[in-house]
Amino acid sequence: MKLGVCWYPEQWPEALWASDVQRMAALGLLFVRIGEFAWSRIEPEPGRFEWDWLDRAVDLAHAAGLEVVMGTPTATPPKWLVDAHPEILAKGRDGQVRGFGSRRHYCFSSDVYLEQAKRITALMADRYGQHPAVVAWQTDNEYGCHDTVVSTSDAAKAAFRRWLAERYGSVQALNAAWGLSFWSQEYRSFDEVDTPFGTVTESHPAHRQDWQRFSSAMVERFNAAQVEILRAASPGRDIVHNFMGLFTEFDHYAVGRQLDVATWDSYPIGFLGQGPFSAADKARYLRTGHPDLTAFHHSLYRACGQGRWWVIEQQPGPVNWAAWNPAPAKGAVELWGWEAVAHGAERMSWFRWRQAPTGQEAMHAGLNRPDNLPGAAWPEVEALAACLAALRPLPPRGRSDVALIFDYDSVWAVQSQPQGRDQDALATAMAWHTAARRLGLSVDIVPPDADMAGYGLVLLPGQVFVDEGFARRLEDSDATVLAGPRTGSKTRDFAIPAHLPPDGLKTLIDVTVARVESLPPGIVLPAGNAGEVTGWMEDVEAGTAVETRLALDDGRGLWFASQAAHYLAGQVDEGLLRRVLADVATTAGLSPRDLGPDVRLERRGNFNFLFNYGPEPVTIAHDLLIGQNPVPPAGVAIWRD
Ligand code: GAL
Repeated sequence: MKLGVCWYPEQWPEALWASDVQRMAALGLLFVRIGEFAWSRIEPEPGRFEWDWLDRAVDLAHAAGLEVVMGTPTATPPKWLVDAHPEILAKGRDGQVRGFGSRRHYCFSSDVYLEQAKRITALMADRYGQHPAVVAWQTDNEYGCHDTVVSTSDAAKAAFRRWLAERYGSVQALNAAWGLSFWSQEYRSFDEVDTPFGTVTESHPAHRQDWQRFSSAMVERFNAAQVEILRAASPGRDIVHNFMGLFTEFDHYAVGRQLDVATWDSYPIGFLGQGPFSAADKARYLRTGHPDLTAFHHSLYRACGQGRWWVIEQQPGPVNWAAWNPAPAKGAVELWGWEAVAHGAERMSWFRWRQAPTGQEAMHAGLNRPDNLPGAAWPEVEALAACLAALRPLPPRGRSDVALIFDYDSVWAVQSQPQGRDQDALATAMAWHTAARRLGLSVDIVPPDADMAGYGLVLLPGQVFVDEGFARRLEDSDATVLAGPRTGSKTRDFAIPAHLPPDGLKTLIDVTVARVESLPPGIVLPAGNAGEVTGWMEDVEAGTAVETRLALDDGRGLWFASQAAHYLAGQVDEGLLRRVLADVATTAGLSPRDLGPDVRLERRGNFNFLFNYGPEPVTIAHDLLIGQNPVPPAGVAIWRD
């Protein structure tokens, strides 16, 4: 894994640049990411370009032996551009223009902006596409950050109508597919269809689902345009985009397929407060981040990059954007680095080189303090760089024990028709991932169209859409399958399946979901001593060949099994989920064992990594290549088989 840093020469006096790159190289860093917000410095006025400063910065980095990941600056259209073309601005769900003065103010559906984005991308690709330092391009920056996937601009409405016309062919087909005879919602032409916002009560769920699919398609379109230009003008360089954590507003697999590498921005402590964790966990992991949140995203983005992925922004200290911004525990910055290594990241870079004294992110830590002295993370970066250099080369990561199916369309489906206020498909997927990882199992997160052959166990925590093809591939994989509530609960047109859920999964296990109920917080349905259900429960009719492994005290079946297929009919507590998973994993030939809440293991070839996210030291029985025994809080231990 190559280490690097995000560098913003445009924000600092040029007198600092030479020592910046020399100190980076001396620290063991091998690359910089630059340029992604620099439009106003590259093109200060329409058609007038100032490339010299960027030329010098790139050349300096090159001379210091650093590779360059160049960002296209399209996340920050400058003021003159916005004033010349105010129609490029996005509008919020409330119809309000999202104005200039921060970033990401453009609308993905604006053809005018798309042309501008292509223009600046082509100019940058032309200027730096062949530069020997430039090894990769990042398109834009964090698509969707600050709630910017959705726009209700005129351009977006027109594009939505075109998208619907293409998908359904005729408005009659749309009326039929969505079921618009309900409440007299039928349309006479696609031009009558509006956004799903601003209705008196909830808008039609199929409308919302398609709006989300459309919005995602607009992100894909925007990204594809840049990719095409960069591929042509800068052959041999990787094209990447930086995805976010806890973010599902567009289909990251689809954007990932356009790229060479998926990268993501990892802020373990920033995300902790926003994640679906208990108050106790938020306190326990205040300074390390949750033991599985980072790993979840590493696995997810590995799938999005079809095996190739980087962490392009890594938290070096307190951030500025969470509700509260605690500092990392001593060791945590290094621990996050090793998690990325264990999961097979090719590169990792910290955000940012030096804390900025001004601007929205002035309170965000960097590797250097604003006075240019090393910040608190510096020694950990130094240690990681030195250890990595000594360890190289590491074996490839290889396939994990378990595949967990994660599907953006299914996440949106739960949002489009939640049927219980706190229903959250991402949180459910993360809970299942945690259960598996706490059992010492390694997990690949994969899209529903992934090849599942070779996995012993496939988890479906919330696969709302189960068509025949998907079910057949599951069956052909010969894997043991554990499916959760809501599996196969909608058709792609957003209807309840004709023969009721779990739709296509019935070919694997003969169960029918006859009724569902959602439950408010605090309501608990016990299942004897085994555990309990909260939030969601289904009444399942099981065929004669199906065994009921566990039932609620009220008599309703909860865990159903038929040969290698298992169905869970309710949202079970952490302990019960782990128990079920351990049992199912054992029958699948795996060796689960409870590691407790704080410790996690990963394997990379014959290298074993142990991470201690908890507040207590952990004693282990191995001779260590790296680390101390007992492993301190926020410590890492590495040993070889
Ligand atoms: C990311 C973003 C960066 C910076 C960083 C601060 O979301 O890509 O530009 O804002 O967060 O943590």
